[in-house]
Amino acid sequence: MAILAKTPPMGFNTWNTFGPNITEQMVMEMADVMVEKGYRDAGYKYVVIDDCWSLTERDDKGNLVADPEKFPHGMKYLSDYVHSKGLKFGMYSCAGTRTCAGYPASFDHEFQDARTFASWGVDFLKYDFCFFPSFGNCQHRYLTMAQALRSTGRDILFSACNWGAHDPWNWMRSIGAHMYRSTYDIVDNFASTAHIMQSQVNNFNANGAGCFNDMDMLTIGMAGQGHVGREDCNNYTEYETQFAFWCFCGAPLMMGADLRKVSDEYRTLLQHKELLRLNQDAECRPPLKIRDDNGYYVFIRHLSDGEFAIGVFNTHQHPHDTEITFSEMGVPANSGVKLELTDVITGETHAPRREDFLLYVPPHGCKVYRARYIRDRRKY
Ligand code: GLA
Repeated sequence: MAILAKTPPMGFNTWNTFGPNITEQMVMEMADVMVEKGYRDAGYKYVVIDDCWSLTERDDKGNLVADPEKFPHGMKYLSDYVHSKGLKFGMYSCAGTRTCAGYPASFDHEFQDARTFASWGVDFLKYDFCFFPSFGNCQHRYLTMAQALRSTGRDILFSACNWGAHDPWNWMRSIGAHMYRSTYDIVDNFASTAHIMQSQVNNFNANGAGCFNDMDMLTIGMAGQGHVGREDCNNYTEYETQFAFWCFCGAPLMMGADLRKVSDEYRTLLQHKELLRLNQDAECRPPLKIRDDNGYYVFIRHLSDGEFAIGVFNTHQHPHDTEITFSEMGVPANSGVKLELTDVITGETHAPRREDFLLYVPPHGCKVYRARYIRDRRKY
Protein backbone atom coordinates (compact mmCIF):
# COMPACT_ATOMS: atom_id res chain seq x y z
CA MET A 1 0.00 0.00 0.00
CA ALA A 2 1.08 3.55 -0.64
CA ILE A 3 2.08 5.93 2.12
CA LEU A 4 -0.64 8.56 2.09
CA ALA A 5 -0.54 12.19 3.19
CA LYS A 6 3.21 12.70 2.99
CA THR A 7 2.33 16.39 2.85
CA PRO A 8 -0.97 18.11 3.81
CA PRO A 9 -3.90 16.75 1.74
CA MET A 10 -5.43 19.21 -0.74
CA GLY A 11 -8.78 19.14 -2.47
CA PHE A 12 -12.37 20.31 -2.61
CA ASN A 13 -15.28 19.39 -0.32
CA THR A 14 -18.96 19.99 -1.08
CA TRP A 15 -20.16 21.01 2.39
CA ASN A 16 -19.32 24.71 2.74
CA THR A 17 -21.17 25.75 -0.38
CA PHE A 18 -23.69 23.02 -1.09
CA GLY A 19 -24.65 21.53 2.26
CA PRO A 20 -27.36 18.96 1.44
CA ASN A 21 -27.83 20.16 -2.16
CA ILE A 22 -25.35 17.88 -3.86
CA THR A 23 -25.72 16.22 -7.27
CA GLU A 24 -23.71 14.09 -9.64
CA GLN A 25 -23.79 16.88 -12.21
CA MET A 26 -22.36 19.42 -9.78
CA VAL A 27 -19.57 17.10 -8.63
CA MET A 28 -18.62 16.34 -12.24
CA GLU A 29 -18.55 20.03 -13.07
CA MET A 30 -16.38 20.68 -10.04
CA ALA A 31 -13.93 18.02 -11.22
CA ASP A 32 -13.92 19.64 -14.69
CA VAL A 33 -13.20 23.07 -13.22
CA MET A 34 -10.43 21.71 -11.04
CA VAL A 35 -8.64 20.61 -14.18
CA GLU A 36 -9.57 23.50 -16.48
CA LYS A 37 -8.82 26.27 -14.00
CA GLY A 38 -5.50 24.88 -12.82
CA TYR A 39 -6.46 23.66 -9.34
CA ARG A 40 -5.39 20.07 -10.01
CA ASP A 41 -2.04 21.13 -11.34
CA ALA A 42 -1.57 23.41 -8.32
CA GLY A 43 -1.88 20.30 -6.12
CA TYR A 44 -5.59 20.02 -5.27
CA LYS A 45 -6.35 16.34 -5.86
CA TYR A 46 -9.32 15.16 -3.77
CA VAL A 47 -12.95 15.82 -4.76
CA VAL A 48 -14.93 14.99 -1.62
CA ILE A 49 -18.68 14.52 -1.30
CA ASP A 50 -19.73 15.43 2.23
CA ASP A 51 -22.95 14.56 4.10
CA CYS A 52 -26.39 13.89 2.52
CA TRP A 53 -25.39 11.63 -0.39
CA SER A 54 -27.29 8.47 0.64
CA LEU A 55 -30.84 7.28 1.04
CA THR A 56 -32.21 7.62 4.55
CA GLU A 57 -32.14 3.82 5.09
CA ARG A 58 -29.75 0.99 4.26
CA ASP A 59 -30.87 -1.71 1.81
CA ASP A 60 -32.07 -5.14 2.96
CA LYS A 61 -28.47 -6.41 3.09
CA GLY A 62 -27.50 -3.50 5.31
CA ASN A 63 -25.57 -1.64 2.62
CA LEU A 64 -25.49 2.12 2.25
CA VAL A 65 -27.25 3.24 -0.93
CA ALA A 66 -26.53 6.39 -2.91
CA ASP A 67 -29.60 8.56 -3.43
CA PRO A 68 -30.57 7.83 -7.06
CA GLU A 69 -32.13 11.24 -7.50
CA LYS A 70 -28.91 13.03 -6.59
CA PHE A 71 -26.56 10.43 -8.08
CA PRO A 72 -28.51 8.72 -10.89
CA HIS A 73 -25.57 6.68 -12.18
CA GLY A 74 -24.32 5.62 -8.75
CA MET A 75 -21.05 6.31 -7.00
CA LYS A 76 -18.77 4.04 -9.04
CA TYR A 77 -19.69 5.96 -12.17
CA LEU A 78 -18.88 9.27 -10.48
CA SER A 79 -15.66 7.96 -9.03
CA ASP A 80 -14.59 6.69 -12.47
CA TYR A 81 -15.31 10.12 -13.89
CA VAL A 82 -13.29 11.87 -11.18
CA HIS A 83 -10.41 9.43 -11.71
CA SER A 84 -10.53 10.00 -15.47
CA LYS A 85 -9.68 13.62 -14.74
CA GLY A 86 -6.54 12.67 -12.83
CA LEU A 87 -8.24 13.46 -9.51
CA LYS A 88 -9.08 11.39 -6.45
CA PHE A 89 -12.56 10.66 -5.12
CA GLY A 90 -13.66 11.24 -1.53
CA MET A 91 -16.80 10.41 0.43
CA TYR A 92 -18.24 10.89 3.90
CA SER A 93 -19.60 8.84 6.76
CA CYS A 94 -19.81 9.14 10.50
CA ALA A 95 -18.68 7.18 13.57
CA GLY A 96 -22.15 7.45 15.14
CA THR A 97 -25.39 5.75 14.22
CA ARG A 98 -26.47 8.63 11.98
CA THR A 99 -24.56 11.33 10.11
CA CYS A 100 -24.86 14.90 11.34
CA ALA A 101 -27.65 15.49 8.83
CA GLY A 102 -29.44 12.31 9.95
CA TYR A 103 -28.46 9.79 7.25
CA PRO A 104 -27.35 6.25 8.13
CA ALA A 105 -23.79 6.12 9.46
CA SER A 106 -21.13 3.51 10.15
CA PHE A 107 -21.30 2.68 13.87
CA ASP A 108 -21.12 -1.12 13.98
CA HIS A 109 -21.07 -1.21 10.16
CA GLU A 110 -17.46 -0.10 9.77
CA PHE A 111 -16.14 -3.07 7.79
CA GLN A 112 -19.21 -3.41 5.61
CA ASP A 113 -19.18 0.30 4.75
CA ALA A 114 -15.43 0.36 4.14
CA ARG A 115 -15.90 -2.48 1.63
CA THR A 116 -18.68 -0.52 -0.05
CA PHE A 117 -16.49 2.58 -0.32
CA ALA A 118 -13.57 0.54 -1.66
CA SER A 119 -15.85 -1.10 -4.27
CA TRP A 120 -16.88 2.37 -5.43
CA GLY A 121 -13.24 3.42 -5.89
CA VAL A 122 -13.19 5.81 -2.95
CA ASP A 123 -9.74 7.31 -2.13
CA PHE A 124 -10.62 9.48 0.88
CA LEU A 125 -13.13 9.08 3.71
CA LYS A 126 -14.18 11.96 5.93
CA TYR A 127 -15.51 10.46 9.14
CA ASP A 128 -17.71 12.59 11.37
CA PHE A 129 -18.78 12.28 15.03
CA CYS A 130 -22.53 12.94 15.34
CA PHE A 131 -25.00 10.57 17.04
CA PHE A 132 -22.19 8.73 18.76
CA PRO A 133 -23.70 6.34 21.34
CA SER A 134 -22.97 7.25 24.95
CA PHE A 135 -21.67 3.74 25.58
CA GLY A 136 -19.25 3.97 22.63
CA ASN A 137 -15.51 4.59 22.93
CA CYS A 138 -14.46 7.29 20.46
CA GLN A 139 -10.83 6.23 20.10
CA HIS A 140 -11.81 2.61 19.59
CA ARG A 141 -14.39 3.41 16.94
CA TYR A 142 -12.00 5.59 14.93
CA LEU A 143 -9.47 2.76 15.22
CA THR A 144 -12.12 0.32 13.99
CA MET A 145 -12.78 2.38 10.88
CA ALA A 146 -9.05 2.82 10.26
CA GLN A 147 -8.68 -0.98 10.39
CA ALA A 148 -11.72 -1.43 8.18
CA LEU A 149 -10.30 0.90 5.53
CA ARG A 150 -6.87 -0.72 5.64
CA SER A 151 -8.35 -4.19 5.45
CA THR A 152 -9.89 -3.38 2.05
CA GLY A 153 -6.43 -3.25 0.52
CA ARG A 154 -7.30 0.03 -1.18
CA ASP A 155 -5.39 3.24 -0.42
CA ILE A 156 -8.04 5.31 1.34
CA LEU A 157 -7.00 8.48 3.12
CA PHE A 158 -8.71 8.57 6.51
CA SER A 159 -9.94 12.07 7.38
CA ALA A 160 -11.18 11.85 10.96
CA CYS A 161 -13.55 14.63 12.00
CA ASN A 162 -14.34 14.58 15.71
CA TRP A 163 -13.95 18.37 16.14
CA GLY A 164 -11.15 18.14 18.69
CA ALA A 165 -13.16 16.00 21.12
CA HIS A 166 -11.08 13.73 23.38
CA ASP A 167 -7.79 15.43 22.42
CA PRO A 168 -7.41 13.74 19.01
CA TRP A 169 -3.91 15.24 18.59
CA ASN A 170 -2.77 12.71 21.19
CA TRP A 171 -3.95 9.60 19.39
CA MET A 172 -5.36 10.08 15.86
CA ARG A 173 -1.91 9.60 14.29
CA SER A 174 -1.49 6.36 16.20
CA ILE A 175 -4.87 4.88 15.32
CA GLY A 176 -4.13 5.43 11.63
CA ALA A 177 -5.86 8.70 10.64
CA HIS A 178 -4.17 10.90 8.03
CA MET A 179 -5.80 14.09 9.23
CA TYR A 180 -7.99 15.00 12.19
CA ARG A 181 -10.40 17.90 12.60
CA SER A 182 -9.41 19.92 15.64
CA THR A 183 -12.19 22.50 15.51
CA TYR A 184 -15.92 22.96 15.21
CA ASP A 185 -17.37 24.07 11.90
CA ILE A 186 -16.09 27.12 10.08
CA VAL A 187 -18.46 29.75 8.70
CA ASP A 188 -17.57 32.38 6.16
CA ASN A 189 -16.66 35.37 8.31
CA PHE A 190 -13.48 36.55 9.98
CA ALA A 191 -14.79 35.97 13.52
CA SER A 192 -14.91 32.28 12.69
CA THR A 193 -11.47 32.25 11.03
CA ALA A 194 -9.94 34.12 13.98
CA HIS A 195 -11.62 31.82 16.48
CA ILE A 196 -10.20 28.75 14.74
CA MET A 197 -6.75 30.34 14.57
CA GLN A 198 -6.86 31.22 18.25
CA SER A 199 -7.94 27.70 19.19
CA GLN A 200 -4.98 26.11 17.34
CA VAL A 201 -2.02 28.47 17.82
CA ASN A 202 -0.61 26.23 20.56
CA ASN A 203 -1.81 23.00 19.05
CA PHE A 204 0.33 22.16 16.06
CA ASN A 205 3.03 20.07 17.64
CA ALA A 206 1.43 16.80 16.47
CA ASN A 207 1.11 18.08 12.89
CA GLY A 208 3.48 16.24 10.61
CA ALA A 209 3.96 13.91 7.67
CA GLY A 210 1.34 11.17 7.64
CA CYS A 211 -1.20 12.92 9.91
CA PHE A 212 -2.24 16.56 9.83
CA ASN A 213 -4.20 18.96 12.02
CA ASP A 214 -7.32 19.86 10.03
CA MET A 215 -8.69 23.33 10.84
CA ASP A 216 -11.72 22.72 8.56
CA MET A 217 -12.47 23.49 4.97
CA LEU A 218 -11.44 26.86 3.55
CA THR A 219 -14.07 29.51 2.87
CA ILE A 220 -11.83 31.50 0.50
CA GLY A 221 -13.80 32.78 -2.48
CA MET A 222 -17.24 31.96 -1.07
CA ALA A 223 -17.93 35.68 -0.83
CA GLY A 224 -20.94 35.14 1.40
CA GLN A 225 -22.62 32.55 -0.85
CA GLY A 226 -23.61 29.00 0.00
CA HIS A 227 -24.34 26.85 3.01
CA VAL A 228 -21.87 28.36 5.48
CA GLY A 229 -21.86 31.74 3.68
CA ARG A 230 -22.52 34.76 5.89
CA GLU A 231 -23.52 38.35 5.21
CA ASP A 232 -20.46 39.64 7.05
CA CYS A 233 -18.26 37.43 4.88
CA ASN A 234 -14.50 37.78 4.69
CA ASN A 235 -12.94 40.49 2.52
CA TYR A 236 -9.80 39.95 0.43
CA THR A 237 -7.39 40.71 3.28
CA GLU A 238 -9.24 38.31 5.57
CA TYR A 239 -9.28 35.51 2.99
CA GLU A 240 -5.59 36.06 2.44
CA THR A 241 -5.00 35.72 6.18
CA GLN A 242 -7.02 32.51 6.28
CA PHE A 243 -5.10 31.02 3.37
CA ALA A 244 -1.71 32.18 4.64
CA PHE A 245 -2.37 30.79 8.12
CA TRP A 246 -3.50 27.37 6.87
CA CYS A 247 -0.49 27.30 4.54
CA PHE A 248 1.95 28.51 7.17
CA CYS A 249 0.85 25.88 9.66
CA GLY A 250 0.97 23.03 7.14
CA ALA A 251 -2.74 22.28 7.54
CA PRO A 252 -4.83 20.36 4.98
CA LEU A 253 -6.26 22.62 2.25
CA MET A 254 -9.78 21.55 1.38
CA MET A 255 -11.50 24.26 -0.63
CA GLY A 256 -15.16 24.97 0.10
CA ALA A 257 -16.17 27.59 -2.44
CA ASP A 258 -18.07 26.85 -5.65
CA LEU A 259 -15.05 26.65 -7.92
CA ARG A 260 -17.22 27.29 -10.97
CA LYS A 261 -17.92 30.77 -9.63
CA VAL A 262 -14.76 31.76 -7.76
CA SER A 263 -13.41 35.09 -9.02
CA ASP A 264 -10.00 35.29 -10.67
CA GLU A 265 -8.53 37.07 -7.66
CA TYR A 266 -9.49 34.24 -5.27
CA ARG A 267 -8.47 31.55 -7.72
CA THR A 268 -5.08 33.24 -7.89
CA LEU A 269 -4.95 33.28 -4.08
CA LEU A 270 -5.91 29.60 -3.80
CA GLN A 271 -3.19 28.76 -6.30
CA HIS A 272 -0.50 31.06 -4.85
CA LYS A 273 2.69 29.14 -5.66
CA GLU A 274 4.84 30.32 -2.77
CA LEU A 275 2.14 29.91 -0.12
CA LEU A 276 1.46 26.42 -1.44
CA ARG A 277 5.20 25.64 -1.43
CA LEU A 278 5.21 26.60 2.26
CA ASN A 279 2.16 24.45 2.95
CA GLN A 280 3.63 21.45 1.14
CA ASP A 281 7.15 21.77 2.55
CA ALA A 282 8.58 18.24 2.57
CA GLU A 283 9.87 18.41 6.14
CA CYS A 284 6.33 19.04 7.47
CA ARG A 285 7.71 20.58 10.63
CA PRO A 286 5.06 22.30 12.73
CA PRO A 287 5.18 26.04 13.42
CA LEU A 288 6.38 27.53 16.69
CA LYS A 289 4.53 30.49 18.20
CA ILE A 290 7.00 32.99 19.60
CA ARG A 291 4.70 35.89 20.36
CA ASP A 292 1.02 36.19 21.18
CA ASP A 293 -0.41 39.58 21.96
CA ASN A 294 -4.00 38.49 22.43
CA GLY A 295 -4.65 37.61 18.82
CA TYR A 296 -1.55 39.18 17.26
CA TYR A 297 0.80 36.32 16.61
CA VAL A 298 4.36 35.81 15.46
CA PHE A 299 5.47 32.32 14.43
CA ILE A 300 8.51 30.72 12.92
CA ARG A 301 8.67 27.46 11.04
CA HIS A 302 11.75 25.57 9.87
CA LEU A 303 11.73 24.52 6.23
CA SER A 304 13.34 21.69 4.35
CA ASP A 305 15.55 23.87 2.14
CA GLY A 306 17.58 25.36 4.99
CA GLU A 307 15.47 28.49 5.26
CA PHE A 308 12.83 29.26 7.82
CA ALA A 309 9.50 31.02 7.57
CA ILE A 310 8.23 33.90 9.68
CA GLY A 311 4.48 34.42 9.96
CA VAL A 312 2.82 37.47 11.51
CA PHE A 313 -0.95 37.29 11.83
CA ASN A 314 -3.13 40.12 13.06
CA THR A 315 -6.66 39.15 14.08
CA HIS A 316 -7.21 42.58 15.65
CA GLN A 317 -9.40 45.27 14.13
CA HIS A 318 -6.54 47.77 14.27
CA PRO A 319 -3.25 47.71 12.35
CA HIS A 320 0.10 46.90 13.94
CA ASP A 321 3.47 48.53 13.32
CA THR A 322 5.82 45.95 14.71
CA GLU A 323 9.48 45.39 15.23
CA ILE A 324 10.27 41.72 15.13
CA THR A 325 13.63 40.93 16.65
CA PHE A 326 15.75 38.10 15.35
CA SER A 327 16.90 37.19 18.85
CA GLU A 328 13.35 36.08 19.71
CA MET A 329 13.71 33.68 16.77
CA GLY A 330 16.91 32.24 18.15
CA VAL A 331 19.25 34.38 16.04
CA PRO A 332 20.82 36.95 18.42
CA ALA A 333 22.47 40.16 17.20
CA ASN A 334 25.96 38.82 17.99
CA SER A 335 25.41 35.57 16.08
CA GLY A 336 27.43 36.60 13.04
CA VAL A 337 24.41 35.77 10.94
CA LYS A 338 22.16 38.20 9.11
CA LEU A 339 18.74 37.34 7.78
CA GLU A 340 17.51 38.11 4.30
CA LEU A 341 13.73 38.20 4.27
CA THR A 342 11.61 37.57 1.20
CA ASP A 343 7.92 38.40 1.39
CA VAL A 344 6.20 35.13 0.44
CA ILE A 345 3.03 36.87 -0.74
CA THR A 346 4.51 39.73 -2.80
CA GLY A 347 7.86 38.15 -3.70
CA GLU A 348 9.79 41.23 -2.56
CA THR A 349 13.24 40.56 -1.08
CA HIS A 350 14.65 42.93 1.55
CA ALA A 351 18.30 43.78 2.20
CA PRO A 352 19.83 41.46 4.84
CA ARG A 353 19.49 42.67 8.43
CA ARG A 354 21.23 41.72 11.65
CA GLU A 355 18.90 42.52 14.53
CA ASP A 356 15.37 43.27 13.68
CA PHE A 357 12.82 44.06 11.04
CA LEU A 358 10.01 46.60 10.99
CA LEU A 359 6.73 45.72 9.44
CA TYR A 360 3.18 46.95 9.10
CA VAL A 361 0.30 44.50 9.37
CA PRO A 362 -3.17 45.77 8.44
CA PRO A 363 -6.29 44.94 10.47
CA HIS A 364 -7.09 41.23 10.03
CA GLY A 365 -4.00 40.98 7.81
CA CYS A 366 -0.79 39.02 7.78
CA LYS A 367 2.83 39.01 6.65
CA VAL A 368 4.72 35.88 5.72
CA TYR A 369 8.44 35.76 4.98
CA ARG A 370 11.09 33.26 4.08
CA ALA A 371 14.30 33.98 5.98
CA ARG A 372 17.69 33.06 4.54
CA TYR A 373 20.79 32.91 6.76
CA ILE A 374 23.67 35.04 5.53
CA ARG A 375 27.07 34.92 7.25
CA ASP A 376 27.99 38.43 8.37
CA ARG A 377 31.55 38.79 7.02
CA ARG A 378 32.27 41.94 9.02
CA LYS A 379 31.98 39.90 12.15
CA TYR A 380 33.57 36.56 11.35
C1 GLA B 1 -20.38 18.25 10.82
C2 GLA B 1 -18.98 18.46 10.25
C3 GLA B 1 -19.05 19.32 8.99
C4 GLA B 1 -19.98 18.67 7.97
C5 GLA B 1 -21.34 18.41 8.59
C6 GLA B 1 -22.23 17.57 7.68
O1 GLA B 1 -20.94 19.43 11.29
O2 GLA B 1 -18.15 19.07 11.20
O3 GLA B 1 -17.76 19.53 8.45
O4 GLA B 1 -19.38 17.47 7.54
O5 GLA B 1 -21.23 17.70 9.82
O6 GLA B 1 -23.48 17.33 8.24
